[in-house]
Amino acid sequence: MRKLCVIGSGYVGLVTGTCFADLGNSVTLVDIDTSKIDMLRRGQMPIYEPGLAEMAQRNTDAGRMRFTTCYAEGLDQAEFVFICVGTPSGVDGEADLQYVRAAAETIAETMTHPLVIINKSTVPVGTGDWTAEIVQRKQPQPIDFAVVSCPEFLREGSALADFINPDRTVLGSTSVDAAERVAELYAPLDAPIVITDIRTAEMIKYASNAFLATRISFINEISIICERLGADVTEVARGMGYDKRIGPHFLQAGIGFGGSCFPKDVKALANMAQTHGMHPQLLNAVMEINAFQRRQITSKARELLGGNVNGKTVAVLGLAFKQNTDDTRESPSLTVVRSLLNQGALVKAYDPVAMDNASRDVPGMTLCRDSYDAARDADALLILTPWNEFTHLDMARILNSMKQPILVDGRNMYDPDELRALGFAYRGVGRGFEGAGIIANGDDQ
Ligand code: UDX
Repeated sequence: MRKLCVIGSGYVGLVTGTCFADLGNSVTLVDIDTSKIDMLRRGQMPIYEPGLAEMAQRNTDAGRMRFTTCYAEGLDQAEFVFICVGTPSGVDGEADLQYVRAAAETIAETMTHPLVIINKSTVPVGTGDWTAEIVQRKQPQPIDFAVVSCPEFLREGSALADFINPDRTVLGSTSVDAAERVAELYAPLDAPIVITDIRTAEMIKYASNAFLATRISFINEISIICERLGADVTEVARGMGYDKRIGPHFLQAGIGFGGSCFPKDVKALANMAQTHGMHPQLLNAVMEINAFQRRQITSKARELLGGNVNGKTVAVLGLAFKQNTDDTRESPSLTVVRSLLNQGALVKAYDPVAMDNASRDVPGMTLCRDSYDAARDADALLILTPWNEFTHLDMARILNSMKQPILVDGRNMYDPDELRALGFAYRGVGRGFEGAGIIANGDDQ
C-alpha cells in the first residue's frame, strides 16, 4: 500500500484521491477550506459526480481515505503529493497561479522526508520548473524532491470512468526515476504512458483542450453555413466522422462549449502566445465563434417572437454547461438566460441538478419543478443542455400548454420535421430552416 497526499478537494483532487484509494493506495486529502473537509468527513460530497460519493464512502470505510486541513498530517509518511488546486483565469485570460504557489510553499515548509510532487492542475508551460524553484527556496533545510507534471484529462460527468480507463497518461519530469515511480502508480490502468519533459507535458494538456475546443467551434461555424444553405449539420458531422482521420467525436454543433476547462484553457494558451510576441489567430477565432454561437440562440428566439423578447415568457431547459453535472461555470445556458433577462424577458427555468448553482450565479429566473412546469404558458421554449430526460418529452403536451408554439432546440435533440408536423415553429442549430437561401448555379446570385 503506497501513501499518497492530495492537495485540493475540488473536482480533480476528489476524483484523483478517491480513485487512487480505490486502487488500494492510502490517500489523505488536504484542503484549506474547513467547511469542505467537514462535509467530506460527514460523508457528503461538495460536488456532484456520478458514482463518486459511493466510491469515496467505500474507501473511507475501508480506512484507505481520510480528510484533513493540516498539511503535516497529509504529508506524514507520504511518498507522493498531488497538487490539484484551482487555476482560475486572471483578468487577461492568463492562469492565476496563486493557489499553486501557496500549495508549493506549504509543501516546502512542511515536508520532512523526500517527496515526489505531482502537478495535476492545468498550468502554464514553465510552471513545473517554477514550482521546483519555489520548493527549493522555501525549504527550511534541503530535502530531496522531484516535480512531475501529470495533467488530468477528466470529463465532468464521466470522471471516474475517465480515470480508470484513460486514453493515455502523460508524465513530464526532469527526473526519469520520479516519472517512472509515478508511472507505477498508474500501471494498473493499462493505458499508454507518455514520459517526457515537464514543459512538453504541460503543453500536451493545453494543446489537447484547445484542439477539442477548435473541433467544436469548427462544427459550429459549419452549422451556421449549413443553416444558410439548407444543409443539416448533424448529417454533415455523421458523414465526416466515418473518415478515420476525422473520427466521430466532438462534432456536435450546439450552443458553444463551456465549463471550467475549455474557455479558460484556450484563453490561457492564447495569452501565453501573446505574451511571447505571437498572434494566436486560430485560438482567438475559436473563442469568437463560441461567443457568437451563444448569441445566436437568443437571436433565434427573438426572431421567432417577432423581434422582441421584452415582456415575453421564455422557458429554458438545462442550465448546467453540459449534461450529467451540476456545474454551471462558464455555462452557455446562463449567458443566454442573462441576455434574455437583460432584454426584459421573464425566464422560467428547469435543470435536473444545476438549479441551486445557476440561481446563485444568475438570480431573477423562476425555477420550475420539471420541463412541463417550465413550458406552461411560455411564449418560447429553449432546450440548452442535452440532459437525457429532455430527449423523450411529451412534446404534444408541451405544445398544448404553451402560449405560443415556439421551440429553439440548442442541442439538436429533436427531429425538426416531426416537431414542425406537431405544430411547432422549430429552429435547431445548423439544420436548414424554411427560408434558407437557395443558391443555384444560375444567374440569380
Ligand atoms: C474537458 C475535457 O474533455 C477534459 O479532458 C479536461 O480535462 C477538462 O475539460 P469537461 O469540461 O468536463 O472536460 O467537458 P466536455 O465533456 O469535454 O465538454 C466541454 C463542453 O463542450 C461542454 O459545454 C459540451 O456541451 C461542449 N461540447 C462537447 C459540444 O458543444 N459539442 C461536442 O461535440 C462536445
